[in-house]
Amino acid sequence: YTIEWDTTAAQKGGYPSFMAKEIHEQASAVADTLRGRMENGRLHLDEMKIDPALLRSIDKIVVVACGTAANAGSVVKYAIEHWCRIPVEVELAHEFRYRDPVVTEKTLVIAISQSGETMDTLMAVRHAKEQGAKVVAICNTRGSTIPRESDAALYLNVGPEIAVASTKAYLGQIGACYLLGLYLAQERGNFFPEEIAEIMHDLEGLPDKVQAVLDNAAQVEQLAHDMADATSVLFLGRHVGYPTAMEGALKLKEIAYIHAEGFAAGELKHGPIALVDEGQPVFIIVPSPRGRDSLHSKVVSNIQEIRARGARTMVIAEEGDTDVEPYADVVIRVPATRTLFAPLLTIIPLQIFACELATAKGLDVDQPRNLAKSVTVE
Ligand code: G6P
Repeated sequence: YTIEWDTTAAQKGGYPSFMAKEIHEQASAVADTLRGRMENGRLHLDEMKIDPALLRSIDKIVVVACGTAANAGSVVKYAIEHWCRIPVEVELAHEFRYRDPVVTEKTLVIAISQSGETMDTLMAVRHAKEQGAKVVAICNTRGSTIPRESDAALYLNVGPEIAVASTKAYLGQIGACYLLGLYLAQERGNFFPEEIAEIMHDLEGLPDKVQAVLDNAAQVEQLAHDMADATSVLFLGRHVGYPTAMEGALKLKEIAYIHAEGFAAGELKHGPIALVDEGQPVFIIVPSPRGRDSLHSKVVSNIQEIRARGARTMVIAEEGDTDVEPYADVVIRVPATRTLFAPLLTIIPLQIFACELATAKGLDVDQPRNLAKSVTVE
């Protein structure tokens, strides 16, 4: 009598793939990234071993990263510029490295890398340091090369990520960069302390909201099964929804091998709308109706426009947002939060969609063809 014991299956904790497991760990992952940072109304980042006087003098931030980490950078640009009033550029590390970028001692470079070993990102870090810039690494892997070569490192604390396609590290990267942005705002005096405490309070409420989105996974899983034959899927978003659209498309390409493109919703009329014909599936990430300016109504008109051209519209919208209903074939709900924090919620249905669709196609979700978890060559 022997007991069959499959170690890998045990490590997956009952999920069909590491990716599915990691997606479902995201509420605690975000909580772990944020834990222990606030004390007596002040944000403490003990790892930030960069002189606060120097942080006050920086006049530009450049985020360098690749893949999912670059999409995380594009999300946090909105927050850091809004909070700190410092211009933030986000650049693919391999592009940054080879174009003679303007970097000075007053530039703060944020290098985002889950593994801390991506060669393209490492070369960008070295290049920035040669120009006298200070570098903060946002990493998941302690002791890896990028944090070792940087001036300071902020770790995600989300635990090891096994699946090649990044999910919980993406949320951790956004969370850690939010902490960094708020810390910069605090040290530079952009905010009253109570304002930081208030924003942190909302940030700390995110894990429960992440869990609420995960609890609704069944709806998206069903959608993925229904769409297993799709050959092309488009993703539209505006403001922070734009990088979310890019990341949703990246996930689908990476693991389901489906042609997928993310667009800025405002760009639709300048080209991409030509792609929309009868039955074209489109995900649209809708900003909060309580958010700034006319962002929400602009995106609702985009949905209307593509629906009129036959698109199948799958809309990710805040709970209670009824404006989208007349134009949506499917509405996927996420809890209300600050506009800047919505990316931690709106990406989740797109991760689940890609993971479930790849599973439905019988693909190796954790080890997609041609990709590696960490690319250590240029
Ligand atoms: C590879 C992986 C991606 C990852 C990217 C950056 O291409 O397949 O999933 O986003 O590298 O990795 P890093 O470890 O630097 O975050």
